[in-house]
Amino acid sequence: LSAAGWHHGDLRFTPVPPNKDDALRIPNGYRSSVVVRWGDPVLPDAPDFDFDNQTAEAQAKQFGYNCDFVTLFEMGRNRGLLWVNHEYTDESLMFRGYTAATATPEQIKIALAAHGGSVVEVERVRGTGEWKLVTKGRRRYNRRVTAQTPMRFTGPAAGHDLLKTAADPAGRKPVGMLNNCAGGTTPWGTVLTAEENFDQYFVNGDKNNPNIARYTIPTNIQASNRRFDKVEERFDLAKHPNEANRFGWIVEIDPFDPDSTPVKRTALGRFKHEAATTSVSRDGRLVVYMGDDSRFEYIYKFVSKKRYIPGFDRHNRTLLDEGTLYVAKFSGDSPKEEIDGSGKLPVDGAFDGSGEWIPLVSGEESHVQGMSAAEVLIYTRTAADKVGATKMDRPEDMERNPVTGAVYVALTNNTARTPAQVDEANPRPANKHGHVLELVEGRNNGFAWSLPLVCGDPNDASTYFAGYDKTKVSPISCPDNLAFDRDGNLWISTDGNALGSNDGLFVTPTRGRERGHVRQFLTVPVGAETCGPMVTDDQRSVFVAVQHPGEIDGATPDNPASRWPDGAQPRPSVAVVWHGQGRKIGS
Ligand code: FEO
Ligand code: CA
Ligand code: CA
Ligand code: CA
Repeated sequence: LSAAGWHHGDLRFTPVPPNKDDALRIPNGYRSSVVVRWGDPVLPDAPDFDFDNQTAEAQAKQFGYNCDFVTLFEMGRNRGLLWVNHEYTDESLMFRGYTAATATPEQIKIALAAHGGSVVEVERVRGTGEWKLVTKGRRRYNRRVTAQTPMRFTGPAAGHDLLKTAADPAGRKPVGMLNNCAGGTTPWGTVLTAEENFDQYFVNGDKNNPNIARYTIPTNIQASNRRFDKVEERFDLAKHPNEANRFGWIVEIDPFDPDSTPVKRTALGRFKHEAATTSVSRDGRLVVYMGDDSRFEYIYKFVSKKRYIPGFDRHNRTLLDEGTLYVAKFSGDSPKEEIDGSGKLPVDGAFDGSGEWIPLVSGEESHVQGMSAAEVLIYTRTAADKVGATKMDRPEDMERNPVTGAVYVALTNNTARTPAQVDEANPRPANKHGHVLELVEGRNNGFAWSLPLVCGDPNDASTYFAGYDKTKVSPISCPDNLAFDRDGNLWISTDGNALGSNDGLFVTPTRGRERGHVRQFLTVPVGAETCGPMVTDDQRSVFVAVQHPGEIDGATPDNPASRWPDGAQPRPSVAVVWHGQGRKIGS
């Protein structure tokens, strides 16, 4: 029995089989509903959604596009604030006849307003696990954050020359956030939201600047560019070269203060941020785990200098401005010739080993030769290259198991890894299906690690399900967002299922005889990735974000690939799933 008195074997639902249905499929006995959709009013004076007559003014007050990270701040048993990231826009599905070359200024402004995040008040349907959007009354917390919301920088790089622009000569007041993918929450009740692929919004980066290349920022105008520069000149780096340095950060937002200014915390470094999972270390410091989701990028963590003091809000809200940023180096414990790329386990029976956290910068002090502290924070990728960190297979979400304390990382895939580039932590060449890594913190910046899951079709010899009987598991491909329930079961959502079926949400126990028994809990409609997920503390509800339904090559509003959830144009939405008899999620 776990601490909560619930046996891991109590995950008794019948798995949802792989499918290509244009529907949210859930196990027998469960129910689902859509909580909030793209275009639903967020601010009380927002107009109703009108697909064919959308305006930027309306969009800035309505729920944004592609929903990713989801978290619920409960306010008593039946009320809560839902925070949702709006990662990116897909204009070819948002507007009829759209091409980047012919985009109108109004369409571009709609896209700017559809990015960012939303705070919406939700209420429980009493006695059930269903949550609904509050649609009446003042809704004082409801808020939209967009690519145009005024923000501020804090931490060691705030005010640095590399962050200064014509519009902000002090380098302290960035505007907007972009491509917010996964995230986390702090113990003091704020959201950490991670700016990921911010490079795509810019044009005309300096091709002679190695930092532009290191962050894959376009050096011309590409066909895929959204042309934000047509309505806001700052996105043209030929005119405003430092503007791109003002994106790629972890942003802290207080959902309980709709007038608060979002804060870009420079001490947490700048890269294509995915996760921002917090925990408190044994000696009381705040730890933030973060991935950089590109091929051959790194895993990071930040550790605050000062200790977290429960209840001392003013003090705690300074913790993310001073501390040490580390990057991870993984070493395998098996002979190199046993990691032969076949997926066969090494003789010791595990892909595993030890590792170390290499410090990059502590406050104003750089640990990287030839780079100042601010440069390490602004060009973190370059700093990590210099210290020999381990190049991973696209680190996506990270989460900490609340029962065991182990930290899990989703390594979603990396088809570019060659046989010569495999190592024990990334053991498969042309890694189409990804894997999951477990990390157990040790002493003196050391850690132990292992791979509990190497994903794919269980009939594929290169897969591994923690030693569990592979005839009894669900196929799983491209793990992305992770979550734990209070009992320590790991929930895994997928993005880009390379086995050909729709993406889904899976769960596996992480301890005991059932470790590795992966089961598919739900599947999302055609073209969508599964985001969130978020299991409530009472384990009666699981929220999932259904991101980009209908996003299939060639799909358009006149030829939609999905009609979820309304039977009309597809709309990225957050859904909630609960058991019809009020049982725990997974039972
Ligand atoms: Fe936005 Fe790395 O997924
Ligand atoms: Ca080994
Ligand atoms: Ca992701
Ligand atoms: Ca992904």
